[in-house]
Order: sequence, then C-alpha cells, then structure tokens
Amino acid sequence: MAINWTEAQIEQIVASVMKGLKGNSPATKGEYCGAGYNGKKFIGVYDDMNDAIDAAESGYKAIRAMSLDEREKVIGVIRDLCRKEAPIMAEIGVGETKMGRVDHKTAKHMLVADKTPGTSDIAPQVKTGDFGLTLTEMAPFGVVGSITPSTNPSETVICNSIGMIAAGNGVVFNPHPNAIATSNYAVDLINRASAMAGGPKVLVSSVVKPTLDTANIMYKDPRIKLLVCTGGPGVVKSVLSSGKKAIGAGAGNPPVIVDDTADIKKAGKDIIDGCTFDNNLPCIAEKEVFAFANIASELIEAMKANGAYLITREEADKLAKVVLVEKTNPKTGISAKTVNRDCVGRDAKVLLEKIGINVGNDIRCIICEAPFEHDFVQHELMMPILPIVRVKNIDEAIDLAVKAEHGNRHTAHMHSKNIDNLTRFARAVETTIFVKNAPSYAGIGFGGEGHTTFTIAGPTGEGITSARSFTRLRRCVLAESFRII
Ligand code: COA
Repeated sequence: MAINWTEAQIEQIVASVMKGLKGNSPATKGEYCGAGYNGKKFIGVYDDMNDAIDAAESGYKAIRAMSLDEREKVIGVIRDLCRKEAPIMAEIGVGETKMGRVDHKTAKHMLVADKTPGTSDIAPQVKTGDFGLTLTEMAPFGVVGSITPSTNPSETVICNSIGMIAAGNGVVFNPHPNAIATSNYAVDLINRASAMAGGPKVLVSSVVKPTLDTANIMYKDPRIKLLVCTGGPGVVKSVLSSGKKAIGAGAGNPPVIVDDTADIKKAGKDIIDGCTFDNNLPCIAEKEVFAFANIASELIEAMKANGAYLITREEADKLAKVVLVEKTNPKTGISAKTVNRDCVGRDAKVLLEKIGINVGNDIRCIICEAPFEHDFVQHELMMPILPIVRVKNIDEAIDLAVKAEHGNRHTAHMHSKNIDNLTRFARAVETTIFVKNAPSYAGIGFGGEGHTTFTIAGPTGEGITSARSFTRLRRCVLAESFRII
C-alpha cells in the first residue's frame, strides 16, 4: 500500500480521526498516571515486575494455544483501537513527555496500525529434494522483555506488541521512566483488544513505575528468553551486556547529502518535512545536511519557503549553549556535552524564544550554515534544528557525511539524480536505512514502500524489525518422503 503523506494529508487524517471520535471518546486531555487513565486502572500494569513477568508468561501460554487466525483477530482489533485512540495517545504523549507534536504523533499511530506486519510475516520455508522434505518454521522465543523509549512511546509498545504477538510470544514492557502513562495506556489498549477478540484479559504486561532496577529484574529472570531494547545509548548498552539474546535499536545521527543534480526545490521541502516530523523525534530524521556549494543558497531558499528560519552563526553558537549541556558520568567521572533533555522534541518557535528570537507559528525548523566541527553537526539533537555544511564535491560530501554518522550505521539520506553518486554514498555509509529523494519517513513506510517499525535494530542486525525478528528458526526433516514428484 503506497501512501503519500504530505503535511496537508497528515492534517486531514488527524481531522478525520478527531471527527470520528466526537461524542463517544474519552476526553482527549484526560487525567493520567502510570497506573491509569481518567480514573480507570490500566489492565496488565503491575506494581511489581515479578507479577508483570508472571502475567506475561500466562499471556504467552494463551498465545501458544491460539490458532494463527485467532492471533490475527486480536491483531485486527489492536489495529482498530490504535486508529481510533491515536489522538488520545498523541495527546498523552505530548503532555507527559513535553516532546513532539500531537498531529504528527497521531499520524505515527495510524502508520503503526496500517503498516506493522502481522502473522503473514512468519511464513514457513520448505525445501524438497532427492532426500525428502525439510520444513523451517519461525517459532516464538517465549516471553520477550521489551525496553521502550520516551521519543515514540506508545507507537513502540503497539508496534512491538503486534510483531511479538504475531510471532507467538508473550511480552512484558519496561517503559522509559519519562513516558510511563503513554506507554501503559498502550499496554492497556493491547489487553482491551485481546479481551474484545476473545483472547485473555491480560495478554501483555508492564509496571506502574519502571526503573533500571525493574529492568534488571527482567534481564535476570530465566523466563525472559529475548530482550528487545529501543532507546538511548545507555539503556541499549545495558541490554546488550545482559548475557541474553538481545535486539538493540539505538542512536543514529542521519546525514543528508544534496548534490547539484537534485531537484533542489523538492529536496528543500522533503528535508524540512522529514526533519520536522514529530519535531525530529524519529531516530531516522534528517540531522545535518551536506550541500554542494553551487546549490547551497538555492537549497536554503527552498527550505525557507517551507517553514525554515535561517539563523546566523553567532545565533547558532548561542543556541548550541542552550540545547547542549555538559554532563559528568558519575561512574567514569568523564564529562561530555549531551543534549538538554528540556529541548528535545520541542517546537522550533520555543527553541528560538530561548535565544530571544520570536517567530510565528509557520516556522517549524531552525536552519543555519555551519562548519563540519560544529556541535549541531556532531551531536544527535532530536530537535527541529538543521545545520547545513557547504561541500566542494561528492568526495568531500561522502567523507564528511560518513564521519558525521559516527559509525552508527543507522540511517542516511540523499537527494540526487546521479546514480553513481547515490550508489557511492549508500555503499560508503552502510546504514540500515538509506532514503533517496524523499523525506526520511519514507524509510519507515510513510510515503515509501515497505513495512513500518520504530525499533530499527542496526547494532544487532535485524534492521527494520517485524514479527520474524522476534522468532527462532526451527527445522523439521522428513527424509525420503513427502515429495510428490
Ligand atoms: N526503562 C528503564 N530505564 C530506562 C529506560 C527504560 N525503558 N530507558 C532509558 N532508561 C534509563 C537510562 O538508562 C538512563 O539511566 P542512567 O541515567 O542511569 O544512565 C535514564 O533512564 C535516562 O535515559 P535517557 O533516555 O538516555 O536519558 P534522557 O531521558 O535524558 O534522554 C533522549 C532522552 C530522548 C535523548 C533519549 O532517551 C534518547 O536518546 N532516545 C532515543 C530513543 C530512540 O528512539 N532510539 C532508538 C531509535 S531506533
């Protein structure tokens, strides 16, 4: 299904969803906490992580007993509720985390509902030959422990749940401590869907107050057979050193190259659309641009025509002192610049106000010209701030873009009509996702072909995760038989 999601279309989707909800929905700005919403206790959310693991184990047993058709029924209702309640989760998400945009978060939930693969993703493989038949099936791991982020909280819980349930697993979540209500709302939604489809009352679980301590209980429990972590560098590292089979989806710093064969007007619009999507929270979003010097000014004008505000180098340095802060690691005593949590995912207008610049609501991105060494180029900000570095030619563009990506091998983008240039950059940067001539979100199925996920597992190699990523392969051999030719 190809969807061409322009800004106007996203607004249209949000408007139609809101219209559909009128009259029968809970208030979209309801009361919430980690344990419940609008006075109603979340289903499947426990005070104790051990109880949550017990519940996930029971959920796993129930899923094992379900036919594929029954699993699909549960997933179908999850998709319906996700579409219906997308604006509520978007509101809670922005309210709780203070990050992102309600309209874009709504669209992200619609994407998850529409384009997260279900059981069709775990089709078995068969090989027949002189020696008979061999069947390879994608089997569940058992109970999965999933660590979810604050940037795409309910989107990740729902996307992970669809894939993990489709694969036949149970799931216990340990959500990010700054997005507990949003994430647990999604856990509750999955359980409501299960009950509505005839499944168990508690299919997936979580805890009221997730911390690194509750995560550690999860890591150590022998019933947890697979850990899946979507988060910042610290928590991904902790999962990968747990000693268990783990899938890790971590940091990137996606560069964009624009060469002089590109459609510059389109490139300017696409880059701003991608960079500002949910205020730059998706880890695939454009973070820095390397533009050929002979088209850089035209590109900047195209960006300005699409809601970008150009700041001077002096203003950029001033803003850098606000959005990045010096932090000392208590364990190592080493201090380093890190993003100011209070600026992540904020509106461009709000960030500009912090340095005394007032702009209208039409401004959605801050752009500046910067040298390669600038903090805006080197640090993954996750804010609608986009530095533009002028480069002489494709050699310099690729060299600097690869360095700016810091070997994360996450995502990169390019606007060009030169196949040789496109191929050279794709080969050199080795990222999990490489988007050509489109906004970054085309890489997760938003106006691009292919399924979606918010768990992009570069470090451990599963890539754009889906149901099959959460399975173990099992083989059954029937020698000298079952061949019909
Ligand atoms: N459960 C328990 N603890 C968690 C957690 C979870 N699900 N997620 C993070 N934490 C912990 C971290 O380990 C860290 O602990 P520490 O201070 O002891 O090291 C603490 O919570 C804060 O985590 P972190 O998220 O790194 O810091 P932050 O809240 O200040 O930063 C962001 C916010 C948005 C910058 C950061 O979360 C981030 O980089 N997110 C990217 C997420 C993402 O989507 N990644 C994958 C894309 S494919």
